[in-house]
Parts: sequence; C-alpha cells; structure tokens
Amino acid sequence: MTFFFRSVCGAAVAILAGCGTTALCAQSASNSLLSVSADGSLLACANRDSGSVSLIDAATMQRRFEVPVGRHPEGTTFIGTTSLVACCVYGEDAIVILDAKDGTIQHRIDVFDEPYGIVSSANGKFLYATLEYPGQVIRIDVQQQKIDQTWDAGPMLRGIALDEKRGQVLVTEYLTAALVRLSTQDGRVLARYPGASTDNIARQITLHPDLPKAYLPHIRSRIRTAHGNGSIFPYVTAATLEGEDEGRRMRIPMDTFRGTRVVANPWEVAVSPDGRQVLTIFGATNDLYVANVEFNDYQELGYAGTLQLGNNPRAVRYGNSGDSFYVYNALDFELVRYDAKSLRETRRVTTTQTPYDEDHLLGKRLFYTARQPMSGRQWIACSSCHIDGDADGRTWQQPEGLRQTQPLAALAWTHPLHWSADRDEVQDFEHTIRGKLMQGRGLLRGQLPDALEEPISGRSRLLDALAVYTNSHKPSLSPHAKNGLSAAAQRGQKLFHSTTTKCASCHSGPLYSDSQPGARAMYDIGTGRADETELMGTTYDTPTLLGVYRSAPYLHDGSAATLRDVLTTANADDKHGVTSSLTADQVDDLVEFLKALPFEDPEPAAREAGLKQVKR
Ligand code: HEC
Ligand code: HEC
Repeated sequence: MTFFFRSVCGAAVAILAGCGTTALCAQSASNSLLSVSADGSLLACANRDSGSVSLIDAATMQRRFEVPVGRHPEGTTFIGTTSLVACCVYGEDAIVILDAKDGTIQHRIDVFDEPYGIVSSANGKFLYATLEYPGQVIRIDVQQQKIDQTWDAGPMLRGIALDEKRGQVLVTEYLTAALVRLSTQDGRVLARYPGASTDNIARQITLHPDLPKAYLPHIRSRIRTAHGNGSIFPYVTAATLEGEDEGRRMRIPMDTFRGTRVVANPWEVAVSPDGRQVLTIFGATNDLYVANVEFNDYQELGYAGTLQLGNNPRAVRYGNSGDSFYVYNALDFELVRYDAKSLRETRRVTTTQTPYDEDHLLGKRLFYTARQPMSGRQWIACSSCHIDGDADGRTWQQPEGLRQTQPLAALAWTHPLHWSADRDEVQDFEHTIRGKLMQGRGLLRGQLPDALEEPISGRSRLLDALAVYTNSHKPSLSPHAKNGLSAAAQRGQKLFHSTTTKCASCHSGPLYSDSQPGARAMYDIGTGRADETELMGTTYDTPTLLGVYRSAPYLHDGSAATLRDVLTTANADDKHGVTSSLTADQVDDLVEFLKALPFEDPEPAAREAGLKQVKR
C-alpha cells in the first residue's frame, strides 16, 4: 500500500504541470450542467428552467450567447478541444450540438428518452451519454452525427464519467447509487458496485485525475424513520477502481464532516486539476465544502473550508489551471467565479432571466431549501424526495402507513392529495413542514387548523407560492408512444375501456383518474392490509396513470414491482378491475397501453371536458 501511495503523489504533481496546456482535464470527462472548454476560455451552462444554454467568456465572465435548446436541458460538455458544445435536452429527448463561437445550433440528435449526463472523448470523436429512462448508455459518433452504440447498463442512469486510460465508462444508477463500469469497446458491463440499500439520488460521478478513485455525491433515504433528525443523510461516496480494494465504497458522511454542521442534497462534486482538493455543493443548504484528498488508507477526504452559495447550486467546475472555480446557482440564474485559494468571489454573471413570475420562483426556492422556515435541522427539503417534481422511488413508513412517494406531474388536476386523499390543498403541507419530518418554523403565522378540511389557501403568501410551484408540474409524453400507439397498445386500449376490465370506470377521462379537485374517489380494491402498515383504512384515491411507465414500484405501499404485477399477483380477486379472465397476451397488451400513457398532452382535453385545475 505504501508503494501505491508514493507513486500516486508523484503522479498527481506531474498532472498539475500538464493540465493547463495539454488536451483535456479529467474533470471535463465527468457529467455536469456546466462545462469548461479545453483551453479554459469558454463556459457553457444549461439553464434547466429557461430551456437554454448560456455561453460565457471565462476571462471577462460576460455572457456571449444564450441559445434556446428545449425543455429541461441537463448535462453539457465541450467536444474535445473544439468550441462545440453538446447538451442533453432531457425534456425533449434530444442531444443538441451548438457552437460556442457564434451561438448557432449545428445538429440535433434524437434519442429514445431522457438524456441526462454527457461526456466527450479527449479527441472529440465520441460522446457518451446516459439515458435515464430506460437506463442506457449511448455513444455518438460526432463526425457522423449519430448514435452508433446503445448499451443497457441498469435502470435509471444519470451520472457518467469517461476513463479513457482504462477504456471504460462509469455510470451511476440514480435511485440506488450503484456504480456500473462498462467497456468503451463493446459496452460490456465489467463490474457493478452496488451501494447500500438506503443509497439514493446519485446523479453525478467524478474521477480523480490520477488516483483510481471515483466520487459520487448522493443521499441516503432511511425510509423507516420519517423524522427530521434522521431520515435523509448527505454523502459523498469514494469508490476504489483498482488494486486490492477494487470495488470498495467508502461512504463519507457530509453532515458530520465539519462538526455537527448539517448540509443537504449533495448535488455535484469537482476534483481540482492537481488532484488535491474536492469541492462538493449542496443544493438544499446552499453551501459548498472544500476537502483535501487524503493520500492514506483510512480517510478519503479531510475538511478544509466552507463557502455559502446562492439559491440551489447545481454545478461546480474548476477552471483549467485550478486557480479558480465556478458555481452555478440555478435558482438565482447566476454563475459565480471564486478564487480557489482564498475562496473569495471574483466575478458573477446572470446566465438567463428568470422564466417565472415572483410567486412561482418564491415557491420553487421554498421547495428546494432545507433551511428555515421550511426545515429545522437542515437535513430535509421537499426536493429531497420529490426531486424536480419526480419521485425518489422509495416507500416511506409515514404516520399514515407505508407510502410510496408520488410524482407530482398533473397534480393540479388530480387533487385531493395523498394516496388516502386526506389533504385537499397543497397548503395543507404546512403540516409536513411543521411536523416531525421537517420540523420547520412554517409558512403560516399563528395557529394551524387541526382539521385538514379547513381551507388555508389565501392566508400566507409563502404557502400559496409553494402551492403555485408544486401545482406546476406537467406530465411528459411517454417515449413508448413516439410513433403513436403500437398495435399491442391499441388492443390494450380497447381492453382498458371495455366493460370486461372496467379500468376506465375509475381511471377515467384525460387524466385517467376520477379523483378531481373537490371530489374524492376512494375505493377498496383489495390492495390494503389491515395491519400496522396501514393506519388510514384500506380505501385509496384513484391515482392518475399518466407517467406510470417510469414510476415503479406501484400502489400506495410500493408492493407491486411491475405493471404486470399490479394486474396479476396484486389483483387476485378481481377487485381492482377484472383481470383474471384475460389471457397472458391480453395482459401484455394492457401493460403496453399503460406504458404509452400519456400519448398526447392531456391538458387541452381536460380543459375541454371542463375539469377543474388548481393553480395555487
Ligand atoms: C421523506 C420524503 C418526503 C418529503 C421530504 C416530502 N414528501 Fe411529499 N410525499 C412523500 C410521500 C411518501 C408521499 C405519499 C404520501 C401519502 O400519500 O400519504 C408524498 C406525497 C406528496 C404529495 C401528494 C401527491 C399526490 O399525487 O397526491 C404532494 C403534493 C407532496 N408530497 C408535496 C410535498 C411538499 C410540498 C413537501 C415539502 C413541504 C414534501 N412533499 C416533502 C414523500 C416526501
Ligand atoms: C374501482 C376503481 C378502480 C378500477 C376499476 C381500476 N382501478 Fe386501478 N387503481 C385504483 C385505485 C384506488 C388504485 C390505488 C390502489 C393502491 O395504491 O393500493 C389504483 C392503482 C392502479 C395502478 C397503480 C398506479 C400507481 O401509480 O402505483 C395501476 C397501474 C392501475 N390502477 C391500473 C388499472 C387497470 C389497468 C385497471 C383495469 C384492469 C384498473 N386499474 C382498474 C382504482 C381502480
């Protein structure tokens, strides 16, 4: 081990000398919303909220161009040593290539679904990207402008790093934090290093420029205790990629990294070009830790400094010399440059105008923060479980019983809220904020009514703003219906609407639910258990089926792993629609139909049908 340690230190110094002048620094080969060009002169950052990429001059910190690319851009990377930037447009299933020199879009490459992280080979020949759904890695031949390889690598992939020295791509499973290594030759899975069962939300991975180490920021969701003091914890995992400890994952707790100071939602990590320091940003406590890489066997990172940042920092990158670093505060719409030694701010630039009105922005900031008045102990934000309005894939032991986190898409049309429909407005989440889970001061002055039916809306601007944001999530179209409904899905559609199955009697209308604002629709369909996992009774509010293709596991308690299970093993007595008379092929057809939802935007039809929509 000693030998290894020495050789590593020497090499780390050698890298420092080379990085500013030669091709790419290692950090460019790791996914981020922010990317630095190979010569360090240009920055590209994805404005998720505005649907644009901003191109910024690194020396002057002036915005040269803001290029609209489409809904929810995520990862960006400069391609090799060129001025071309590739950006994953997550919400539109495309990778857009633009030129930072003149702000023009050069190409748009359609992909199956949800491109998230992207990295470039040093020579600029290939791009590698993760498709979160269905969990693939694609390789793009830049010259040909097309996908030349598609590799299955595990469900829900987000983080991606390219390790050209070892001929590997490393990716992270978003919901489990598993780390998967694939060969760049043929996409073969070389190794999979699973995390602990509680590991969650691993959306980025960064490689050390010289040590055989990968760093993954993530959280840990301890679903048995829905309590502000110990449900969700912030971590950086250091994984060893070579040697006798290959595959070892060291989970470094960030909430005890500096005494008892708590941070929440670690979002990105950056390693300095000389390999000596690691920066971690926290998207919910809005701060940053500087850590020294410890070249020994028992401690991976040592605390070296803290910095307070702006609202919802989502990206951190070093400049190429390592003298400065950049932080992107997503909900300030600002990019800030810091001196790496003094940690002093040296310049900032607005990357985009806010696309929101005041209330929406206020509500979004509240949703993303783990500080007061939302959260007392700083461990948990609404966004810790409902990241960007999606779900964490977890079943929580709530005071009500076992409860699967619900995605928030189409929420405005499908009130009342919760599986048991016990809340009739988002303002009722004041109970969550003040309760055991978050222990916040709350957004409402004075007494909180005991009865959930008593309206709270209109009593607090902050609470109404939280509702405006929470109600704003729209479902995205299913990738399984890109070319319309398949023949199987069409057969399934007929079955769904038939009097045999009766599915549409409850999952009715354009929202596929008869639960509507002001109208609870509760049924006992045999899915609840009369035991300690259920304290609210065994009737449930009909959930919308829009987006079920990506929201496994299913039912209020997450007890059905697949859509097929919902219709078969979880429906033994035909209380949940009639499915026992269906042939295996018919069940397949029905599943194909469910996977295709939504195949069209439900909102125009909902408006036409005169359905009610809650805006705040
Ligand atoms: C610990 C994880 C966690 C946190 C933190 C959390 N939620 Fe939830 N959320 C859940 C779970 C689990 C459910 C389902 C609960 C139920 O049905 O009883 C849920 C359900 C919801 C729903 C209902 C969705 C629907 O379709 O009916 C809304 C709205 C919501 N949460 C908003 C919020 C807001 C606002 C906050 C912050 C104040 C928040 N949540 C914090 C886990 C969480
Ligand atoms: C009597 C009303 C009713 C009928 C009929 C019905 N459902 Fe449901 N459905 C519900 C309720 C209520 C739930 C939530 C149950 C739970 O969470 O335990 C649900 C849950 C589901 C879910 C899981 C959704 C999720 O997000 O977890 C799917 C999928 C589904 N239904 C599909 C169907 C299909 C397909 C049919 C026809 C075979 C059907 N349902 C018939 C009321 C109904």
